[in-house]
Amino acid sequence: MSETPSGLIVSPDNAIVWYDDALFVLDQRILPAEERYLQLGSAKETADAIRDMVVRGAPAIGVTAAYGVVLAARRAWSERGHAWRSGMDEPLRLLAESRPTAVNLFWALDCMRALIDGLGAGDPEAALLAEARRIHQRDAADNRRMGEFGASLISGPTEVITHCNAGALATGGYGTALGVIRSAWRQGRISRVFADETRPWLQGARLTSWELHHDGIPVSLQTDAAAAARMARGGIGWVIVGSDRIAANGDVANKIGTYALAVLARYHGVRFMVAAPTSTIDPDTASGADIPIEQRAGDEILSCAGQRVGTRGVEAWNPVFDVTPAKLVDALVTEKGVIEQPNRENIATMLAT
Ligand code: MRU
Repeated sequence: MSETPSGLIVSPDNAIVWYDDALFVLDQRILPAEERYLQLGSAKETADAIRDMVVRGAPAIGVTAAYGVVLAARRAWSERGHAWRSGMDEPLRLLAESRPTAVNLFWALDCMRALIDGLGAGDPEAALLAEARRIHQRDAADNRRMGEFGASLISGPTEVITHCNAGALATGGYGTALGVIRSAWRQGRISRVFADETRPWLQGARLTSWELHHDGIPVSLQTDAAAAARMARGGIGWVIVGSDRIAANGDVANKIGTYALAVLARYHGVRFMVAAPTSTIDPDTASGADIPIEQRAGDEILSCAGQRVGTRGVEAWNPVFDVTPAKLVDALVTEKGVIEQPNRENIATMLAT
């Protein structure tokens, strides 16, 4: 990986860029202190960047992996010529193993694999690049549609809580949960966003508050544990989150702490919205119990901002996602529309349309 040449404009909506025939991603590990792009030169570097959270967020992982397949095809063509296809299995495997929970990764790789299967023996790069761009642009366009659908549910002005980062940084652009918030803010339906800091990786503190501030949307950062007190004081109309995988029955995997928020919301009479493209819905996963939950290194908890906070010798349990049962979800917003009280039947009906 190397740093990008000058010329790219740093913006949350520009987090993944195919520029000058190369792949650049905004390094989310160092935001907001530093705004720096990294160039990814191969599928292996792309898989490493996804695993190391240079780029994160379910749709963004899928889009980046699609471009990683383009890099793999470029190398396979230059090394093997017409036998390029024989060089694709290993990079596809590396990309698929980068992170386990976000189904958008596997969805995007399936799109690329389907195209690979249909290509001839000639140079595959142009066709694969066009498909990666299509996945990227479709995601950004879907998010804008979701923004409108989700905003229409909010009869504000009200305050909302969001968790983790489901913004432009986490997607092909505009954001899912933050896309709804951006649209609703423009329409005067949201007066303030309370962003959970999102321990341990601090996506809320570092990324969501950066994005909202960039847009001029009033944001207050709060500890994850403050959400109950915030709801008890009144004024919160909605909790709005994204998702990494939605099972066929409507159970929602999202950043650890989302389930707790959903329970709190139901107790306090606050409505709970999940905004996610249909590429996040996994019809092959029957229920939330079947969703693989990523466990990351305990050091993420035992340290904070590079400083050791846990006692040496103490272990940490660090599942980075949890599952919110469908019955706690008031509205599921996709690019196809809104499902109130999602369940197996209404999700299947929506996917079939
Ligand atoms: O571990 P992360 O930062 O990749 O987790 C991201 C989330 O949990 C997001 O809420 C989810 O991917 C939706 S992003 C539109």
